Amino acid sequence: MSTGPLIVLVGPMGSGKSTVGALLAERLGAPYRDTDADIVAAEGREISDIFVEDGEEHFRALEREAVRAAVAEHTGVLALGGGAVLDAGTRALLTGLPVAYLSMDVEEAVRRVGLNTARPLLAVNPRRQWRELMEARRHLYTEVARVVVATDDKTPEEVADAVLDAL
Ligand code: S3P
Repeated sequence: MSTGPLIVLVGPMGSGKSTVGALLAERLGAPYRDTDADIVAAEGREISDIFVEDGEEHFRALEREAVRAAVAEHTGVLALGGGAVLDAGTRALLTGLPVAYLSMDVEEAVRRVGLNTARPLLAVNPRRQWRELMEARRHLYTEVARVVVATDDKTPEEVADAVLDAL
């Protein structure tokens, strides 16, 4: 019988979900899974192409189903895409799970991710877009999270330690 994910990581792009998730999986001797990668594999195209070809709403629906499947099947460490919490159905799937929110302030986000246009939501004016994105999402990350770990001044190893201590 499945016991559900050991840890679910949420947080903005660049907060370290993949790096920290892989470290946590290694430490726990558990598998790592990432819903962005699941969607790319299932669709056979990049996320940026899904956004351009079918729009964000369609991507969020694909993401909700990817989260539903992962939460049901995966017993290791699970990282979600940065915008997964925007969807109420996705948030509902996280109820009761050990969710850690990797938080990051706007200046750190600009420094880490900056003008990375491969990330479709940040194509123009990254600082302003980061500010808007964080304002729109912060309360949603907090709503689903059991613990919050500020990543700004921490290495991925330190973030992984903090998640394990806090959960
Ligand atoms: C998104 C974050 C990305 C990916 C997609 C949309 C977002 O995931 O799901 O580009 O809305 O913040 P990462 O947080 O893994 O980069």
